[in-house]
Amino acid sequence: MSEAVRAMFSEIAPKYDISNTVLSAGIHHRWRKKAVTLSGAKVGDAVLDCATGTGDLIIAFGKAVGKTGRLLGTDFCSPMMHSAPDKARKNGLSIEFQEADVMNLPYSDNTFSIASIGFGIRNVDDPMKGLAEMARVVKSGGKVVVLEFGQPNGVFGKIFQWYSVHILPIIGGILTGKKDAYSYLQKTSAQFPCREEFVNIMDKTGQFSHISYTPVTGGIAYIYIGTVA
Ligand SMILES: C[S@@+](CC[C@H](N)C(=O)[O-])C[C@H]1O[C@@H](n2cnc3c(N)ncnc32)[C@H](O)[C@@H]1O
Repeated sequence: MSEAVRAMFSEIAPKYDISNTVLSAGIHHRWRKKAVTLSGAKVGDAVLDCATGTGDLIIAFGKAVGKTGRLLGTDFCSPMMHSAPDKARKNGLSIEFQEADVMNLPYSDNTFSIASIGFGIRNVDDPMKGLAEMARVVKSGGKVVVLEFGQPNGVFGKIFQWYSVHILPIIGGILTGKKDAYSYLQKTSAQFPCREEFVNIMDKTGQFSHISYTPVTGGIAYIYIGTVA
């Protein structure tokens, strides 16, 4: 599965940002800002963003941690990170980018104040292992931040489901030439555990003293914050 995921993201990498912005009408930037706010990130913090892709989440952390903080973005698919260093520079930020699998992070225990993952955990072969690794490299009292799609409830949920099944793969396909990748996005998002179910997965790692979640845009996505024990 990992190899197939890596190959799929390599193919859509050059058009990933534009399709993100069109498909979410730019709202994803607001979700990232909120994730940073909820994380409690402060000046001087060291932040690791896993499955960083084109770097939008680690860039969003940039303002909060300032020049004295450390910013590191990692992904197991280098083509996804291709545009990230340039984007960071254009935002006036100094961010390191390294290739790493979230299930086997090459960093020592208790290294970071925060480890985050945006729209990545759903793609990881063993999400619990990834979460445990993120918690391992974060200091006690630090935060693991997960931003991930879920399933909105009620009438809005039905409208969103219709959009996801019928419209999203067509637009994604036109923008990237890879309609399958956007059918994959729809299918994995529709099935991925959210709310208490995802909290349970985090809890089962045994690494968190407190876990909370916040829906964004009616539950299209969720921000989970785990405090490392
Ligand atoms: C939907 S993109 C999200 C990118 C970025 N975080 C964002 O918020 O836009 C998912 C990313 O997860 C990465 N990924 C999937 N499995 C991974 C793993 N086991 N370790 C590291 N990165 C992984 C993919 O390469 C891809 O860049």
